[in-house]
Order: sequence, then structure tokens, then C-alpha cells
Amino acid sequence: MKILVLNGPNLSRLDLREQKHYGDLDYSQLKKAIEEKAKELSIDIEIKQSDSESEIISWLHEAADKKQPVIFNPAAFTHYSYAIRDAVTMLSAPVIEVHLSNPLSREEFRHTSVISGVVKGSIAGFGVDSYHLALIAMQKLVG
Ligand code: DQA
Repeated sequence: MKILVLNGPNLSRLDLREQKHYGDLDYSQLKKAIEEKAKELSIDIEIKQSDSESEIISWLHEAADKKQPVIFNPAAFTHYSYAIRDAVTMLSAPVIEVHLSNPLSREEFRHTSVISGVVKGSIAGFGVDSYHLALIAMQKLVG
């Protein structure tokens, strides 16, 4: 079973975002680093990114139907999308929430995650290593 690594809005433009929060990798380098770590761990993954809430919800529905585990960076949707939260609630395989930055050390609106309460666990603040740690945790959960 392939693990879905799902990335939300604006993550495809990482190189244009605040370097102090997101580091200096662009999105293709982030993808490559995740793919390399997955290969090292012998984990099968597919990586998707969308800026659209509707598209993300469709992919979560597909993952729910396939009982697919998900490593999920909902980006700004983390903080307010009840529609995405409801879609995550329908998944039966584990979901791990990841963030490159540590939202709790940033602006107050980022201190709320409407997603954290419906996932297995959350990893934030370690840059690309947040994804690496999530792959290791997911392997233990489903491997
Ligand atoms: C983010 C943190 C969110 O607050 C922000 O809106 C993002 C990226 C992160 O990975 O650190 O777009 O999810």
C-alpha cells in the first residue's frame, strides 16, 4: 500500500516563502528529499500537492476508500478548514499531520489546528525532517 504524502496550499512555492520558517529548499527539492528518505526506508509513497480545498478533499475521499495511510501537511487549511477536518475523520488508516515550521512559535492564528484532534499524531518544526520523522512513524504504524 502506497502512503500518500499530501501537501496543501502554497507549499509548491516554498522558494518564494519566508526562508526563516521554510528553509531554502524549493518544492521539487523537498519532494526529492522525501522520495529519497522513503526509498531508504523501503516505503512506497506518492506525493501530491494542491492549492484547492476541493481537490484535497477529493484525494482524502480516495484515500479513505482505499484505506490508504496519509502524511498530511494541510498548510494554511490546518488553521480553519472544518471541511478538511471532516474528510480526515473519514480515514480509517493512520494520518500524521506534519509542518515544516513550528506553527506554535508563530502568529497566534497558527496556534489553532483543527486537524490535530483527528489525526494519529503531529510533527512540526523540523523542516524536511518533519516528513522524514513522519515516514519513520508511519512505517511503525503500518509497516
Ligand atoms: C505550514 C504552516 C502553516 O501555518 C502555513 O500556513 C503553511 C505551512 C508548515 O509546513 O510549516 O503554509 O503548514
